[in-house]
Amino acid sequence: MSDIPAIYPVPEDFAAKAAIGHGDYERLYAHSVRDPDAFWAQVAERLDWDRKPTRIRDVSFDLKDFHIRWYADGELNASVNCLDRHLTTRGDKTALVFEPDDPDAPAQNVTYRELHARVCRLGNALRNLGVRKGDRVTIYLPMIVDAAVAMLACARIGAIHSVVFGGFSPNSIADRVRDCRSKLVITADEGLRGSKAIPLKANVDAALKMPGTETVETVLVVRHTGGAVDMQMPRDRWFDAVVDSQPDTCEPERMNAEDPLFILYTSGSTGKPKGVLHTTGGYLVFVSYTHECAFDLKEDDVYWCTADVGWVTGHSYIVYGPLANGATALMFEGVPNYPDFSRFWQVIDKHKVTIFYTAPTAIRALMREGDGPVRKTSRASLRLLGSVGEPINPEAWRWYRDVVGDGRLPVIDTWWQTETGGIMISPIPGAIPAKPGSATKPFFGVQPAIVDANGVVLEGEAEGNLVMLDSWPGQMRTVYGDDQRFIDTYFKTYPGMYFSGDGCRRDADGYYWITGRVDDVINVSGHRIGTAEVESALVLHPKVAEAAVVGFPHDIKGQGIYAYVTLVAGEQESEALRKELVQQVRSEIGPTATPDYIQWAPGLPKTRSGKIMRRILRKIAENAPDQLGDTSTLADPSVVDSLVRQRRVPD
Ligand code: PRX
Repeated sequence: MSDIPAIYPVPEDFAAKAAIGHGDYERLYAHSVRDPDAFWAQVAERLDWDRKPTRIRDVSFDLKDFHIRWYADGELNASVNCLDRHLTTRGDKTALVFEPDDPDAPAQNVTYRELHARVCRLGNALRNLGVRKGDRVTIYLPMIVDAAVAMLACARIGAIHSVVFGGFSPNSIADRVRDCRSKLVITADEGLRGSKAIPLKANVDAALKMPGTETVETVLVVRHTGGAVDMQMPRDRWFDAVVDSQPDTCEPERMNAEDPLFILYTSGSTGKPKGVLHTTGGYLVFVSYTHECAFDLKEDDVYWCTADVGWVTGHSYIVYGPLANGATALMFEGVPNYPDFSRFWQVIDKHKVTIFYTAPTAIRALMREGDGPVRKTSRASLRLLGSVGEPINPEAWRWYRDVVGDGRLPVIDTWWQTETGGIMISPIPGAIPAKPGSATKPFFGVQPAIVDANGVVLEGEAEGNLVMLDSWPGQMRTVYGDDQRFIDTYFKTYPGMYFSGDGCRRDADGYYWITGRVDDVINVSGHRIGTAEVESALVLHPKVAEAAVVGFPHDIKGQGIYAYVTLVAGEQESEALRKELVQQVRSEIGPTATPDYIQWAPGLPKTRSGKIMRRILRKIAENAPDQLGDTSTLADPSVVDSLVRQRRVPD
């Protein structure tokens, strides 16, 4: 690591053209936190409001009078801001470029005018099907243009969308449909990933057989691959049959800034995934502004974020941020290694991508294949690289900059969360020199702090837990249907502050270095998995008495899933059972939660009061048995010796 420079100045030619250049950052940042009302009032002018807000920030993190409201008397429609207002100046500009899974299948360019018409047709169809303002619509689609159309059509008529990632299982779909009582589901016959068909409609069918999903009246099915599906009438309707004949204008619903825009489920340290609720005005202001500043967006950029729309990155930085800004965004249906490991770079050359935003796990997986697949492409169109989702190790950062970016481009490492709505800590690329592995400095208006275990704010160089001292417009407003869980999860640990769940260090230059989750959430390839969810899936098996799940360092995924399983007395350990358990987790949650390793545990290390000591299990999973620390408080210290003996030792 010693040969990696500690700091990389902003490339001169980039700085020369950047909207926010050297010296501007400190001044703008100071202004943004000195007078947040004035600052965010001015930023809000970037949107088209039906009624301009006069109340800007109305927030209290005090538990006795807890509320978070932004622009509370403003009115606007998100789809109008993403579409209609661009029609006069950018009607023929490409809004979305669709690059299919199969490189030989035709790509599509969808202009703002076409996208507007498609959204309007679907908006009308949804209204005809009885969907009204405030109703919930579940979207379970592949990475196709209709996914963005579906989100924006909901926004147009004031319905609240809940996008479920296409890799989730029927069980996970059912949980999410049940929790928000969805009225309608939009899916496709199948998705395609690396030439493999994903049976989306069949998964929806299986989900809707589960109890508690009876609220769903209609399933709209996009014909995508043409694969055979089972249509159950009158519930199931072909999307094209219902939508294509609709008028291509649709009266937008006038929304209050604090009306919900969407729910997105995310894993926490306890229980089932929670429905993170984002509202309309603050969210749209925040994602459009962060998208413009963090990516130094220019009118002719071709911007590509490789995330799936099923995650928050896809919501904020494929759909809402870029489209609110009138940008051209690329949607890629496929995977980085199909047909080969050069695909990302070929797509960049094919569509002349200028800004590329991906996850460290993809960078590491591609880095492992060597420089060859990258070097055989030009990538000359690129001018900025971004990273998101998990800590990026300096080696991967440097490979990204030096090989993918030929050493000539700025790299931004952007830290944020589903809960934050948009980018919170990131270099402003023309203004802030980068340090590999550091997300650098807070975005305008964002006030991070580092606290110790007692919630004392640490100054200067420090390491501890990352909190936010004040609100920002993109902050989530509640856990859908469970205000108390929202407060308990984020505002009880350190009263008066938002707790991120991440550990963090700040260096002498005021740069922030995220060290990873400090709660029972594992970040696997940039996807959040709650250990409690995996444990629940394992103990559903009749032969399992108890399970404990922890994360461990993984070369490609960042973290892997390590499960300790205690069988019911008399049951035999076997490879077949191990496979069955892995399969059980996949079918309960989805492939993203696949355990990397299952260790049989005759017993688990517990305190005398019966609490599992995960710290010890983590160290064993990390193959660091010499760092177990104090085990004297265990009810039965001998279980540790047997777990250590049988641990997985990486080759
Ligand atoms: O632990 C942090 C990590 O991902 C978590 C948020 O996950 P999610 O809500 O799924 O959103 C991912 C996309 C924004 C955070 O609590 N994380 C995200 N970005 C970074 C990161 N960790 C380190 N560096 C990052 N740039």
